[in-house]
Amino acid sequence: MKGIILAGGSGTRLHPLTKITSKQLLPVYDKPMIYYPLQTLLDAGITEILIIVAPDRAGDFLRLLGSGKEFGAKFTYEIQDRPEGLAQAFIIGKTFIGEDDVTMILGDNIFVGDEVFLRDAIRSFKGGARVFAKEVPDPERFGVVEFDAQMHALTIEEKPRKPKSNFAVTGLYIYDNAVVARSEALKPSQRGELEITDLNNLYLRDGMLDVRTYTGFWLDTGTFDTLLDAGIKVREYKQRRAG
Ligand code: DAU
Repeated sequence: MKGIILAGGSGTRLHPLTKITSKQLLPVYDKPMIYYPLQTLLDAGITEILIIVAPDRAGDFLRLLGSGKEFGAKFTYEIQDRPEGLAQAFIIGKTFIGEDDVTMILGDNIFVGDEVFLRDAIRSFKGGARVFAKEVPDPERFGVVEFDAQMHALTIEEKPRKPKSNFAVTGLYIYDNAVVARSEALKPSQRGELEITDLNNLYLRDGMLDVRTYTGFWLDTGTFDTLLDAGIKVREYKQRRAG
């Protein structure tokens, strides 16, 4: 299993914080944001990790993270010239992925509180695709899963105006090697992006998408409020563990 951290994008929603640095390098309590998704991959035993960054920020990531030796891992870097969608990561990462399966995590997503669940979900992966859903108060900001009465996924909709459930798809995705070919076959959406939701719906259509509910704490740090919440939650969590 290889790992990808997608840490590109322009971060304009967080200006002026992101005027001279990447969102994924901003502090979340006592660490740069990207340390959290990185730790999620490391906890699962993934040590070959591709970090995808925006062109003007590559030097900052290299200076911070280096070769990966310090983390007991090997890091590879690729540049995403323009933020043309989450699923583009698998096209950029084609050579890196090679013949392997791949877990992708978004560089601004923080999962704490149930490391064992995620580790086991990644390690036990056998094929198809696996994603994680979490109940949220504001599902319209996310990919939203509709479930039937037995909690089988029926559809996933990207940022629907009228969400069919409160379950957001989190930014952690596990795929078999077919993800590269499936991503190459995607067409850009109306907003000009290769959508991860379209990719997930292809797997769902083929009966190959496993949607699990995540019981830990999850935040996408895309707004000023969720960025602050993430820092506070991480502090609470660390203090609880220490005490
Ligand atoms: O956080 C989970 C959500 O992430 C999912 O529920 C949605 O289905 C998925 O589309 C995505 O939604 P976002 O609105 O959070 O996507 P955003 O465009 O903000 O991108 C997420 C992160 O990925 C962000 O840190 C920037 C980075 N990114 C984004 C794009 C589009 C890239 O590195 N390259 C890109 O091309």
